[in-house]
Amino acid sequence: MRIAVLTGGGDCPGLNAVIRAVVRRAQNHQFEVLGLRDGWKGLIEDRVFALTRENTAGILHRGGTILGTSRVNPFTLEGGLEKVMSNAAKHRIHAVVAIGGEGTLSAAARLHEHGLKVVGIPKTIDNDVMYTARTFGMITATEKAREVLDCAHNEATSAFNGVGLVKVMGRDAGFIAAATTLASQEVNFCLIPEVPFVLEGETGFLQALGQRLEERHHAVVVVAEGAGQDLLKDLPMDTDASGNKRYADIGPFLKEQIVSWCKRTRLPVDVKYFDPSYFIRSVPANCDDAMLCDQLARHAVHAGMAGKTDLVVGIWHGTFTHIPISLAVGQKNRVDPDGPLWAGVLATTGQPRRWE
Ligand code: F6P
Repeated sequence: MRIAVLTGGGDCPGLNAVIRAVVRRAQNHQFEVLGLRDGWKGLIEDRVFALTRENTAGILHRGGTILGTSRVNPFTLEGGLEKVMSNAAKHRIHAVVAIGGEGTLSAAARLHEHGLKVVGIPKTIDNDVMYTARTFGMITATEKAREVLDCAHNEATSAFNGVGLVKVMGRDAGFIAAATTLASQEVNFCLIPEVPFVLEGETGFLQALGQRLEERHHAVVVVAEGAGQDLLKDLPMDTDASGNKRYADIGPFLKEQIVSWCKRTRLPVDVKYFDPSYFIRSVPANCDDAMLCDQLARHAVHAGMAGKTDLVVGIWHGTFTHIPISLAVGQKNRVDPDGPLWAGVLATTGQPRRWE
């Protein structure tokens, strides 16, 4: 019996930890494991190889994915579906463990309809998958982002009216920005997609920042990449290969807005802008995520061995769950502005509950 494993979409801390654990857990049960190169592309192009204890040794401490990744979707390529199905049959693949986000998992659900057994492990540092309390990699990314926030705080406190402005990943959900704010405790303003903000006016962000500078002469601002998109003109209209809308760059825009507002109001300011970008997700899983990866892999292998399909493994109230793929994709988990995470952010930053 054979289980195949693939990684699709962007990198995420813990991909290699999941791959390693899939191999170990499957082999404990006398299953062979095949690696598929570059996501679904590996099955389309028949780039398949045996994963063993030997060639997965030591990978836990490496970022990225030893399998390679892509956003290739078998359904958008001429003959892609037929190639996937015939190569899966040729290699006698009992089930595919697909580690990926929306695009990879949606393709998995459609392949299931054509008879391929698929078990998904949701992957994104953004933590925006529905019906799972946490996705692997998010805590590691938060840990890395906190390092940057601490640097931003150092820069801000060293300059007169210094502003440390940090943009972190988070396309549609502000979990990393919010969690990093709590972890760092040095943030004065946390801006996320779920809580719209205005720039100008009595209750606007710039006024509040100005007041903070008058009082304390430094400030730290963290902004999630998907925040404030309604304020930006010239939004890109395209999507990436997974169908994710591309966003305009809020970081430099916000920096420019802060500088020009301070100039207009004759408030001296010294903005230090940080964009850690891929730095926070191109690292290996930390201890907490490595443990989660091991558990997710074990449950995925067990589901695959049991002949289950069309599901992703999630975690809910400490229990590992099987969620139909259609429920996990197609809608996004978001920070609840009335929930405890955001209440914590408001308490530590002291920023207004709403910006209108
Ligand atoms: O996986 C989520 C994420 O890291 C987002 O936060 C970010 O917008 C996106 O992926 C970037 O992905 P890429 O540049 O690899 O397409």
